[in-house]
Amino acid sequence: MTESIWNDVDEFFAERIRPQDTSLAAALRDGKAAGLPQIQVSALQAGFLEVLARTVRARRILEIGTLFGYSTIHLARALPDDGRLVTLEHSPAHAEVARRNLERAGLGGVTEIRVGAALDTLPGVAHDADRPFDLVFIDADKENNPEYLEWALKLTRSGGVIVVDNVVRGGSVADLSDTSPGVVGTRRMLDLVAASDRLDASVLQTVGSKGYDGFLIASVR
Ligand code: SAH
Ligand code: DHB
Ligand code: MG
Repeated sequence: MTESIWNDVDEFFAERIRPQDTSLAAALRDGKAAGLPQIQVSALQAGFLEVLARTVRARRILEIGTLFGYSTIHLARALPDDGRLVTLEHSPAHAEVARRNLERAGLGGVTEIRVGAALDTLPGVAHDADRPFDLVFIDADKENNPEYLEWALKLTRSGGVIVVDNVVRGGSVADLSDTSPGVVGTRRMLDLVAASDRLDASVLQTVGSKGYDGFLIASVR
């Protein structure tokens, strides 16, 4: 099995069941043109997030880690007209590109980008929330994954879902000799999941255009 077949198969499915529209194409183009890191979820992974958000009939979504808004567009499209998505981004430059991308996609009205380190902006999000979140997508700096999971637990309704990106990272999370901060953060987040009596969780390993990685998916009791 080679990465090349993963890419081919990713493309095979994506071009059939995740057709790209002009807003998504423009978002990808502008994210690239602005020199932002090309580390957004793949088209199929983004589709998975959108399907999940529709499945739980999400009306309130929290995303930690916006980049240029590629995952954000998919999640926000799952919202009803009176829905709301809050996305947290540290970099003002990333947030600026994302804001344009969301507006062009017609999602400026249902989305809000809060700029700053997520651990600094989360208390305000908690304070301002009119109701608990139905879905939280954690996809920022991996060192803080334990703290993000704690916040997600506080802010998600019973029956809601928490998704954490990049929990496999080519297998490095299961390689205990790897003590890089992001990997350790993800492992500590997993320990919290294991210790929590409020979460029923699993991990979906993924291959594709993003290489070998995975999502943690947790249902809040
Ligand atoms: N969810 C996006 C990808 C996010 S990439 C997608 O799939 O389309 C991770 C993002 O997290 C980057 O834009 C980075 O600037 C941001 N980030 C890093 N540290 C952060 C922090 N402490 N708080 C908020 N955002 C952070
Ligand atoms: C990378 C990928 C991601 O999805 C992410 O959130 C951060 C980094 C990467 O490939 O380096
Ligand atoms: Mg990610």
